[in-house]
Amino acid sequence: MEIQTIRKTPEARSAAQLPDPDGARAGFSWEQAREMLDGLPGGGLNIAHEAVDRHARGAGATRPALIWLGRDGDRREITYARLADDASRFAGVLARHGLGPGDRLYLLAGRVPELYTAALGALRAGLAVTPLFAAFGPEPIRMRMEIGAANVLVTTAALYRRKVAEWRTELPSLKLVIVIDDAAPEGCAAWTTEMAAAQKLEDCAATDPEDTALIHFTSGTTGRPKGVIHVHQAVLAHALTGRYALELAPGVRYWCTADPGWVTGTSYGLISPLVNGATMIVDEAEFDVARWYRILDEEAVEVWYTAPTAIRRLMRAGKKAAAGHDFTKLRHLASVGEPLNPEGVVWGEEVFGRPFHDTWWQTETGAIMIANTAAMDIQPGSMGKPLPGITAGILRRTDDDALEECGPGETGELALRPGWPSMMRGYLGEEARYRKAFDEGWYLSGDLAQRDTEGFFWFVGRADDLIKSAGHLIGPFEVESALMEHPAVAEAAVIGLPDETAGEVVRAYVALNPGHEPSADLEQDIRGLARKRLGPAVAPREVSFRDNLPKTRSGKIMRRLLKARELGLPEGDTSTLETEDKPAPTPQGGTA
Ligand code: WT7
Repeated sequence: MEIQTIRKTPEARSAAQLPDPDGARAGFSWEQAREMLDGLPGGGLNIAHEAVDRHARGAGATRPALIWLGRDGDRREITYARLADDASRFAGVLARHGLGPGDRLYLLAGRVPELYTAALGALRAGLAVTPLFAAFGPEPIRMRMEIGAANVLVTTAALYRRKVAEWRTELPSLKLVIVIDDAAPEGCAAWTTEMAAAQKLEDCAATDPEDTALIHFTSGTTGRPKGVIHVHQAVLAHALTGRYALELAPGVRYWCTADPGWVTGTSYGLISPLVNGATMIVDEAEFDVARWYRILDEEAVEVWYTAPTAIRRLMRAGKKAAAGHDFTKLRHLASVGEPLNPEGVVWGEEVFGRPFHDTWWQTETGAIMIANTAAMDIQPGSMGKPLPGITAGILRRTDDDALEECGPGETGELALRPGWPSMMRGYLGEEARYRKAFDEGWYLSGDLAQRDTEGFFWFVGRADDLIKSAGHLIGPFEVESALMEHPAVAEAAVIGLPDETAGEVVRAYVALNPGHEPSADLEQDIRGLARKRLGPAVAPREVSFRDNLPKTRSGKIMRRLLKARELGLPEGDTSTLETEDKPAPTPQGGTA
């Protein structure tokens, strides 16, 4: 299908928050953008103050900050004043337990109002906040709480019993568990009791812009998950990118479908909309075609930020599923997390009368870096252009290991010039790994991309073995480790295979220990163990048996070769591999 450039009308252009992205970039400075924020006396900065307190004390007090749609049909409107009040009270709960700056609070819950209160309250009290995905199994949760030496956990009684209780005593740093329920399991405190007993913490903690505010976990190809450190200063990038890339403004009715267990759901499902004074729609329920169309219509959503997987699922349901709804309030549609197919962009136009605007960023960048803004013409399939304040490049390595910029249309690694406010400040406890992400004054993203002659960026793929499934970044190593715990498994390799809806699905290959034979029962048993430990979002969909797995001379499993074989692609090109990664000689005709 031939897909044409989508041109914006003069009206759309002049209505946009950022009229001319290329021109705006030239005259931009982060210093000047600081005007979007309030700040604390004495040069301090606190995300919760910027997100709620200042609106609650001003014209925004009675404006809904959050419209919560319960799974079973409840609907609650929470104003900025109310949210600020609840958050100060929760900050008081933490203070009463002697918790404050330097302590780390973890969140593990579905999209319930208390989750938002807890995140903001903790930031206000000066704690660092780490959201966890509630669909994780016990293993990823334990691992992440261990790496971050969690001090407080806010969760529900059900999640606590299923995923935390059995190993809780093995985590000595964990002093307090608060469950979002009226009654608490043994060793936990109940939300309602705690909130009733606490005094509001009147003053926001006097945090410095460079104090840690958020730690988001992301996966690496090898080793443990990485705790990406973000500071309060990041709020400047949340504020600005929300305005420019998502058209957020006071009172705008905005729906971000991402779960706050991931960085999108925090940066753009909590901080950015509130800092911009918008009204967030929060739906507790999972994806559902009819429900989503109803929400867009009945809640009169104006700006919608979602993901390609969801867009593809809506497309699959057919245009008829959208019939009879009124989407005329929708002004801006945006997407993130995985490649957005050109067909998805165009489909947005057909069903909502607006194209989807792709945006690109990562856990490490903390905020949107590259985007199709409202005023820009869209080249469907392109991620757009760098936002003001962001310099992006496409780099390749020369023979003597230096970096050089690629020409238009050439594929290289997407890189950014450090210095934007929401850039990660480190990987928790892993200085060497952090330093490796930077070279010659660039931050190296690990993505492969191209830039065309007009300055648009196009995603090509990952430069490493990370898997993107339904927008979630999955580290193969973490999955392989869980598989290896099965007594029958000798070796495991995990790759992502293309999938029409999820983008990629997790596929595992295992070689068995002596005395075990491949069988459907064994496959199910291994898969079951992985699911139980890792949770359904991370566990492999399918496990295949192999006599042995392809390895390098140094014994590293060659996931890419496995993938090439599975997809029937040429195996020959190992040029992207490091020297030590050259394949080990395989026996003639071997099918390893
Ligand atoms: C990786 C980052 C996006 C923030 C939340 C997820 C992939 C992201 C796009 C896009 C193609 C994309 C990249 C990136 N990705 N946006 N518009 N087109 N790929 O953050 O979990 O750290 O994932 O998601 O591979 O590196 P994350």
